[in-house]
Amino acid sequence: MKILVLNGPNLNMLGIREPGIYGTNSFSDLLNLLEKTAWEEHIEIEQYQSNHEGCLVDRIQEAYGRVDGIVINPAAYTHTSVAILDALKAVSIPAVEVHISDVDSREPFRQISYAGLACVKTIKGQGLDGYRQAILFLKDYLSNQKA
Ligand code: DQA
Repeated sequence: MKILVLNGPNLNMLGIREPGIYGTNSFSDLLNLLEKTAWEEHIEIEQYQSNHEGCLVDRIQEAYGRVDGIVINPAAYTHTSVAILDALKAVSIPAVEVHISDVDSREPFRQISYAGLACVKTIKGQGLDGYRQAILFLKDYLSNQKA
């Protein structure tokens, strides 16, 4: 089973960026968590981070026919990008949306998610552990789909 983990803009600044909201763990701590989860769950995880909307769209398109599931934190593009929503719909790969912070308790504009409309689940406000929870959920979801 292969899962693609996609991260949008400014998530490479984790640990530096607004630690009161996003915590003190760094982006490389997140990469270590992904590697550990892949090893524990016996799955393959590919990860990609970009600050550019089109690059994220390209990566979603490249996943077609190659990847079983997608975990995506589109970051600020969550609230603006119809292109990312359309890309997720185009490939029809089961996807789970993750937000480190609890977007529901923040500014009203963060409560709109375009990407989320194409996702089977959203996990928010769980910190970096949200990515692990999303991977476990997808693994289960994909296994049930095959059965
Ligand atoms: C975020 C929430 C977004 O509103 C914000 O723009 C981000 C990160 C989160 O993980 O909590 O960059 O997606």
